[in-house]
Amino acid sequence: MCGIVGYIGKKNSLPILIKGLKRLEYRGYDSAGVAYIKDKNIKIVKTVGKINNLDKLLNYNDESFIGIGHTRWATHGSVDTTNSHPHQAGSITIVHNGILENYQELKKILTNKGYTFKSDTDTEVLCAYIDYEYTKTKNILDALNNCMKVFEGSYATAIMVKDIPNKLFVMKKDSPLVIGIGEQENYIASDISAYADETSAYIILEDMEIGQIEKDNISIYKNKKEIKYNIEQVEQDAFDSDKNNYEHYMLKEISEQENLMDKLNNIYLKNLDKIMDISKYNKIHIIGCGTAYHAGMIGKYLIENYSDFEVNTYIASEYRYQKIFADDKTLVIAASQSGETADTLACIKKVKKYGCKTLGIVNVKNSSIARAVDEVIYTEAGQEVAVASTKAYSSQVYIFSLLALKLGITKGLINKNEINKEYEKLPSYISKLTNYDYEDIISKIWQAKDVFYLGRGIDYISMLEGSLKLKEISYVHSEAYQAGELKHGTISLIEKDTPIIALISDETIALKTISNIKEVKARGAYVVLLIKEDLNINIDKECYDKIIEINATDNLLQPILNVIPLQLIAYNIAKKRGCDIDKPRNLAKSVTVE
Ligand code: F6R
Repeated sequence: MCGIVGYIGKKNSLPILIKGLKRLEYRGYDSAGVAYIKDKNIKIVKTVGKINNLDKLLNYNDESFIGIGHTRWATHGSVDTTNSHPHQAGSITIVHNGILENYQELKKILTNKGYTFKSDTDTEVLCAYIDYEYTKTKNILDALNNCMKVFEGSYATAIMVKDIPNKLFVMKKDSPLVIGIGEQENYIASDISAYADETSAYIILEDMEIGQIEKDNISIYKNKKEIKYNIEQVEQDAFDSDKNNYEHYMLKEISEQENLMDKLNNIYLKNLDKIMDISKYNKIHIIGCGTAYHAGMIGKYLIENYSDFEVNTYIASEYRYQKIFADDKTLVIAASQSGETADTLACIKKVKKYGCKTLGIVNVKNSSIARAVDEVIYTEAGQEVAVASTKAYSSQVYIFSLLALKLGITKGLINKNEINKEYEKLPSYISKLTNYDYEDIISKIWQAKDVFYLGRGIDYISMLEGSLKLKEISYVHSEAYQAGELKHGTISLIEKDTPIIALISDETIALKTISNIKEVKARGAYVVLLIKEDLNINIDKECYDKIIEINATDNLLQPILNVIPLQLIAYNIAKKRGCDIDKPRNLAKSVTVE
């Protein structure tokens, strides 16, 4: 969601800006633009669509040593060139990620002062307000400081000032921004993956800080005072953005789950003491959004069923505004791949006021959530480039299984030696599922208008994730239902050949789900049955059209396997429909606005 880049140094800025923007493409965007200084003039080039469209408009002979760039994910105003960034007002040119909540109010003030606006964006207002303050104070640092007192909402902003052509400025609140440090050159980016090849060190700008960036100097200010900053080191292997001959990042990332389980076993299973002891809390709340929320729901199920402890799960965008019952004996666990999701981050800030202890299950190191929580367990999945989350999900579920395992062992409910063997078998089981030939199933269902996913208990949660994967990348409407709930309304939508994907891995309720499958089969549905092998039940061949057997592992780990065929069914349907799998329309990888 909105990517920001900036460069100041000795090289031509344009190729560097474009390279950075391409690296941030994974965040999701609908238009892109750059601004750079050429012969003391600020030039702006922007357009809708892919960065390649912008690239074609650029004149690379325009040598410029300072510039900013942006990929926009529309929030205020439609997707068009006027609304895309950079925006300019008077001496000020900016790119912005976030939402200026009081922009209507500020727009009125500025309109009365003679400012006019071309776009529908909050960003243009933010830009004009900086110009207004700069005109008044004649000092850009004072102007930005004054703006921060007035601006409500979130902003990560890179700023160029016409009469200060040798400096870039940044300011930030509640949206991420980093400054990459080079030799006689410095960079700005929403996240350091944009320039991980160019720099080995970077500064993370914190809320309410202003940065002044020259090619050979960086100064950070807070409340008008210059402050010291920490320098972070770039972890080079954290950014593997090579597709390695895979057709799509999503397929690559699905396949990586096999080795990832090995990696996680080595890091965590062998050192269970590294996993937080959650036994001392009275309550556990798990929060997250989308796929991370689904992983949290699996976490609830695992902790409740295998370590006998009640857990509540919440969607972060709700939790941040709802009444909560939490205190210093409550552990709040936030699951997030990016570590930047605005709603999840806001929940962490909220529960700190209640005295809660916070644990992050996070993929991106040094991300905002990783830094905001009291303790973090990294999911070690490596960079996830495809917008649809796959390996990050299974690694989150893996970490939740370890939290349940540790608590279960502490309570004497789980035998560690037996379960260790099952963790070790995960890679080979995953390999079997990734090598399965799904073509037969896909050829039958890829043109469907609607697909329904059925399961009970923990299987229903896997189906929520399977259904989300299908929706987001193939644009096929789908819903996941608790199998017993379908006949309370939705079964009216089932007609001849409606695809139903059903999952049965919980033996205790398998026969109940089978009855529900028979109900849809009787109405002509085309049923794909995913079933844990060796279930001790009789399955009538007439109740499914296709069957996929999933290796049986311990119930604590079964959800990690169950999701693999669901990811691959979604992937293959999207591929057959010719969708832009890695960058589905309207979606952003890092959702930094609420
Ligand atoms: C779906 C997907 C999203 C994210 C959600 C939370 O495939 O990727 O639903 O899971 O936006 O993102 P993170 O995990 O970065 O907090």
